[in-house]
Amino acid sequence: MEQELDWKNLSFGYMPTDYNVRCRYKDGKWGEIEVSQSEMVNLHIAATCLHYGQEIFEGLKAFRGKDGKIRIFRLEENARRIANSARGLLMAPIPEDLFREMVLKVVKLNERFVPPYGSGASLYIRPLEIGVSAQVGVKPASEYLFIILVSPVGPYFKTGFKPTNICIMRQYDRVAPRGTGMWKVGGNYAASLAAGEHAHELGYSAVLYLDPKEKKYLDECGPANFIAIKDGVYITPKSDSILPSITNKSLMQLAEDMGMKVECRHIPVEELAEVDEAAAVGTAAVASPVGRIDDLDTGIQYQILKDGKPGPVVTKLYETLRGIQYADLPDTHGWCTVVE
Ligand SMILES: Cc1ncc(COP(=O)(O)O)c(C=O)c1O
Repeated sequence: MEQELDWKNLSFGYMPTDYNVRCRYKDGKWGEIEVSQSEMVNLHIAATCLHYGQEIFEGLKAFRGKDGKIRIFRLEENARRIANSARGLLMAPIPEDLFREMVLKVVKLNERFVPPYGSGASLYIRPLEIGVSAQVGVKPASEYLFIILVSPVGPYFKTGFKPTNICIMRQYDRVAPRGTGMWKVGGNYAASLAAGEHAHELGYSAVLYLDPKEKKYLDECGPANFIAIKDGVYITPKSDSILPSITNKSLMQLAEDMGMKVECRHIPVEELAEVDEAAAVGTAAVASPVGRIDDLDTGIQYQILKDGKPGPVVTKLYETLRGIQYADLPDTHGWCTVVE
């Protein structure tokens, strides 16, 4: 059955689909995969996810290629990352095989929602795990629920691939120096809402966070990693308080494939004056070029792109990654899983 959807005008929002998949962890083991048509969960009022924030999630995408096949990008990496997040919050790690089976199942079940090739849209896959058993003392739950829902989402650049401006605001941190920044924990996003909204009100697309300990080095850029190109070198922050981005990891590989040097290191804020290109990179943004970075505390404006047009390296990285995801380019690293 063909769904009549306006594929070209989808936003990055929630749209109901036919099914979600669920699995429960109880008595020390994961149970059977359940296919659900309900958009609701029934929770105990003392569930740890409600009180103590035992919630972790992931975000990945499925793309329809010119050949009509559906490909999921680097799902093994998301499987590993959510298991790490689980260990971080003393939750039950989802076995990699179970994660894979459930991702493939939910995409197959909702096949009709995978946008057609050429629309620029994709199917966003959102796995999440919550602590569901009752606790009143601050303790981890003994039971967990793992759910995967999907939703078609539009291209990030609706009006074309264009640079945006971002800002530095030292009054906000998303995470603590030895906190939960390297895990994909719901609470990190709750903690980032005020900064994000403030930046949007001021006309910026995102906040460029500094390291929360010294506020000297670049950390990450809203829900995306930060990269810069300086004298032909790909540079990206090394930090314990940022999420290890799968997009960034992929782009580092592509940059190396293009013969570029890649440096993952501390990047002092002032070094922004020397960079030729910059981008926010992630599953949603892919590689979103940054035009200017305003340090709102010092008043310094780092004009990255002089002519307001995306730079050649970020453009090439963006196009190469998109090319692999939509199978316009060969998947030489074996990053895509075809949904059979
Ligand atoms: C805080 C944060 N940093 C970086 C990223 C980018 O990671 P990925 O490339 O795996 O989507 C995301 C999005 O998942 C994020 O939420």
